[in-house]
Amino acid sequence: MSPTTTLLLSLLATQASAHTFIWGVFVNGIDQGTSYGIRTPAYNAAARKGGYNNSPVKDLNSIDMRCNVLGDIPAHNTIKVNPGDNLTFDWHHEIRNDTDDIIAESHHGPSLIYISPDPPTQNSFVKLWHQGKFQTNPFPQPGKWSTTADIKKHFGHMHVRIPAGLKAGPYLIRAEMIGLHEGEVSYLENARRGAQFYPDCVQIEVMGDGDVELPSGVGFPGAYSYEDPGVVHNIYCSTETRKPKTSTTPCATDYIIPGPTVWSGAWPETTAVSVGPVKGATTATPWSTWIGTDSVVTSVTYRDVRSQTIVGSSVYTPSWSEVYATPTATAERW
Ligand SMILES: *[C@@H]1O[C@H](CO)[C@@H](O)[C@H](O)[C@H]1NC(C)=O
Ligand SMILES: *[C@@H]1O[C@H](CO)[C@@H](O)[C@H](O)[C@H]1NC(C)=O
Repeated sequence: MSPTTTLLLSLLATQASAHTFIWGVFVNGIDQGTSYGIRTPAYNAAARKGGYNNSPVKDLNSIDMRCNVLGDIPAHNTIKVNPGDNLTFDWHHEIRNDTDDIIAESHHGPSLIYISPDPPTQNSFVKLWHQGKFQTNPFPQPGKWSTTADIKKHFGHMHVRIPAGLKAGPYLIRAEMIGLHEGEVSYLENARRGAQFYPDCVQIEVMGDGDVELPSGVGFPGAYSYEDPGVVHNIYCSTETRKPKTSTTPCATDYIIPGPTVWSGAWPETTAVSVGPVKGATTATPWSTWIGTDSVVTSVTYRDVRSQTIVGSSVYTPSWSEVYATPTATAERW
């Protein structure tokens, strides 16, 4: 860690949730290598199974909404791309191969992709793609959702195409899955539940002589609110039998994906490219080896999931640079 960051060890209860993040990026079907260019998240709970684990971000006001836990720390390398390139993000849970479960079967929800100049600002994230629910609920099923019916079914592959003519320079792509399985009530009302956000950022450098600049966009935190019908949404309410008692929201069978509309400069079609072999490790380096501690919390307060007692506070202060810093081999992330 840099000397300016402070870490304070806390005894944290483990959270029962599925964790998913991007393990690799394919450019036009070619793997750039495990962890290459990716700001692999740490997470808000104790290390387990020697792998990375990011507890979902649930506090919409947390800086972790931007690029997940420790998202301010650059990766060592940046993925070089050209406008028109097809990128495939390879999401996994425990191992980077096709036997992995990607994300829990219950974690129905939307998937979203944003792009921002690197470093981002409070209004720099522009939406390139999103996918919510594929069909109106055929009563009594909770619909077919992007996370479980597409990304999970397709070995964790999420696709996006670099906008035509995009101006050269460093950008961050923020890809995200949202689990709505406990989203029938807001985290603000019930910290045990609430929508689960799995954002992850990838460093790219756009090459070429394009002259298309991104419009202004949204900020993370800030883009989503507890008032959004896409954040507090009951995916079970058409089933009646599985309607959680905690629900405070009216039943809605349509689903409105949170965040802004997709930018008109994004490609109207997202192509599912076929990908080549994975390069590099298929297992994760324990995050504690590069964090150098057993746990880290970036939220202002962290509550035990069951007892709701505060078990940690302000243990890590993210410091997002306002100027672009070229990644180096001495960047702090592994
Ligand atoms: C990206 O995918 C589209 C649609 O399949 C294809 O036409 C295009 O050539 C691809 N781009 C590159 C750089 O391969
Ligand atoms: C994927 O990983 C699992 C768990 O380590 C292993 O049993 C399986 O053989 C692997 N599959 C492939 C295709 O590598």
